[in-house]
Amino acid sequence: MANVNRDGFGSRFGVLVAVAGSAVGLGNLWRFPYLVGNNGGAAFIIIYLLFVILLCLPIMFSEFIIGRRTQANVFGAINKLAPKSPFIIIGIISVAASISIMSFYSVVGGWTLEYIFKSFSPQFLTADSANLATQFSGFSSASFMPVVMHLLFLGLSALIVVAGIKNGIEKYSKILMPALFVLVLLLAVRSVTLDGAGAGIKFLFYPDFSKITGETLLAALGQAFFSLSLGMGCIITYGSYVNKKENLFNISLMTAAADTGFAILAGLAVMPAVFAFGIPPGQGPSLVFITLPQIFAQLPFGNLFSVAFFFILFIAAITSAISLLEVIVAYFTEELKLSRKAAVIIAFTIIGTFGTLSSLSNGVLKDVTIFGKTFFDLFDYASSNILLPVGGLLVVLFVGWRMKRADVLDELSSGGAVAVKSFVFRWVMLIIKFVAPIAITIVLLNSIGLIKLF
Ligand code: TRP
Repeated sequence: MANVNRDGFGSRFGVLVAVAGSAVGLGNLWRFPYLVGNNGGAAFIIIYLLFVILLCLPIMFSEFIIGRRTQANVFGAINKLAPKSPFIIIGIISVAASISIMSFYSVVGGWTLEYIFKSFSPQFLTADSANLATQFSGFSSASFMPVVMHLLFLGLSALIVVAGIKNGIEKYSKILMPALFVLVLLLAVRSVTLDGAGAGIKFLFYPDFSKITGETLLAALGQAFFSLSLGMGCIITYGSYVNKKENLFNISLMTAAADTGFAILAGLAVMPAVFAFGIPPGQGPSLVFITLPQIFAQLPFGNLFSVAFFFILFIAAITSAISLLEVIVAYFTEELKLSRKAAVIIAFTIIGTFGTLSSLSNGVLKDVTIFGKTFFDLFDYASSNILLPVGGLLVVLFVGWRMKRADVLDELSSGGAVAVKSFVFRWVMLIIKFVAPIAITIVLLNSIGLIKLF
C-alpha cells in the first residue's frame, strides 16, 4: 500500500498546525460571533459545545480513519474501501460543498484584505458605529473592489496550494497559526476591560433557553461542522497525508480544543465590545467589521492594531481556504489525472465565477434570489446547513456500518502503536453507529418541519 511518491506532512507539529489551521478561520472569528449575536447568546453556545463534543469529535475520528486508511482523495478513498457503493455520494458532496463554501468564503477573505488596506487610513477609525456600518455596506455592495479583492484572495490561496503539502500548506501554517493566537488574545483582553463590557459577558455566558428554535439547533449544528472543517472530506483529505504512526485521537482532540478556544476567544473579543458600544448584536455578517474598528479607535496606536487584526483574520482565512481547495485539487489530480497546476486553475475559474456572483449579490444583484436567498446567503446556507450535515451523516454511517470493525480499530490505534482501551473503543463505535446518525437526522428533520421538537 505504500505510496512512495505521494506528498505528505513532514512532522507531527506540521500536521497539527495544518489541521488546526484548516479548522480555525473565518468560521471562528467572523461567523461564530455573528451567529451567537443572531441566536441569542449563551444558549446557542452551550448547544454548539454539546454538538462539538458529542457529534463532531466522532465524525472527525471517522474522517481521519477513512483518509489515513486509504491515503487517497475522497472519491479514491470511498472507492478503495467500498468499490461501486452508493457511498460515493460522499465524494460528490465534498466537491460540491467545497465549491459552495469557497464561493462566499473567498468573498469574505477579500473583505479582510480590503480592511487591511483601509486600516492604514487615519479617517477609517471612528467611534461612530453608524459611520462604520455605512463604510462597510458602501464597500461590500460595490461592484468593482470587492470582486477584485475576492479574486486576489482566491489567487493567493491557489498559489499556496500549487506549492503542495510540505512546501506549501505546512510551511505557511507553522508560522502563521501561533501569531494568530497571541493577537486574538490581546483583543479579547482589551474588549472585556472596556466600560460596559459586563452586559456582553452576560450575553455570552448566561443562557436563556427559551430562545432555542429548530433553526437555532440547525445553525449550531451547521456552525459546529463548519468550524471544525467537517462533513465534506476536508479531514479525509488531510488525513490521507498523515503518517501511519500519528495518534488520530490526539490530533482530533487538540484540533477541537484549539478551534473551540479560538471561537470563545473571538466571542470575548467581539461581544463585550458590541454591548459596550451599543451595537445591536444581531447585525449579521458585518458584525466584526463594524465592532472591532470601534475598539481600535479607542486604543493608542489604533491603526496599528487594526492592521494587525485584519491581517490575522486574513491569515486565518487563507489557511482554511487552502484546505477547502485541496479537496477539489486532490480529486482532480488523483482521479482525473490532471497536473496540480491545471487542477488549481480549473478550481480558480469555477470559484472565481461563483464568488463574483456572490460578491455582487451584496449590491447590484441583491434582488436576484433563489429560494428567497441571495447568492451569498444561498452558498452559505446550502453548505453549512445542508451539505455538511448530510456529508457528516454519511461519513459516520460509512465508518459505523460499512467499514470492517477491525480496520477501524487498526486505524484508531495506529496499527497497534497506540493503546486504545476496549471500553473507549466501544463507546466511540456506539456514538458513530447510533448516536451521531440519529442526532443529525433529528436536527435535519426538525429544521424542515417534518418532526417538531421546538
Ligand atoms: N473551518 C474553517 C473556518 O472555520 C472553514 C473550513 C475549512 C471548512 N475547511 C472546511 C468548513 C471544510 C467546512 C468544511 O473558517
